Amino acid sequence: MVYLTKSAEETEIIGKRLAASLEAEGIKRAAIAMRGELGVGKTAFTRGFASHFGISGVKSPTYTIVNEYRGRARLFHFDMYRITDENDLYSIGYDEYIEAEGYSVIEWSENIDSALPDDTLFVTIKRCEPFPDGREITIEAKYEDFSI
Ligand SMILES: Nc1ncnc2c1ncn2[C@@H]1O[C@H](COP(=O)(O)OP(=O)(O)O)[C@@H](O)[C@H]1O
Ligand SMILES: [Mg+2]
Repeated sequence: MVYLTKSAEETEIIGKRLAASLEAEGIKRAAIAMRGELGVGKTAFTRGFASHFGISGVKSPTYTIVNEYRGRARLFHFDMYRITDENDLYSIGYDEYIEAEGYSVIEWSENIDSALPDDTLFVTIKRCEPFPDGREITIEAKYEDFSI
């Protein structure tokens, strides 16, 4: 699935649609791996995802590595930018989060590729010229017949 957005608000809407689709499919636990360079819109996407569950105030968890929210569902928002090896993951309780009921949205997932679950959804965001605020968002899911 590939989407083109032309503003942060439109990217948020795609994130919100992904959340709505997961909920509609009865998928209550998922890992969502975000890929894309700094400032491309990973946190904006997560903000939209969170809004579907009535969660607001989503901020980048750069310093804390993980922010935990609770709305109609639980959201675990990770920023793996500073994570360099598996011991770091262990110390933040990554495995417990991943197994818990709720949604783990992971920025800088490139840093922990080998620790992602098999059924991880991938969301890749790229700048899309010539639009100044254009972004191409690709969502890859292993669920059968899944669409947003
Ligand atoms: N189409 C778009 N989608 C997402 N963000 C956009 C878009 N166009 C412009 N922006 C801006 O890009 C920035 C994205 O920031 P952020 O979501 O924090 O990125 P990241 O988490 O990938 O570092 C914001 O300032 C946002 O307003
Ligand atoms: Mg971010």
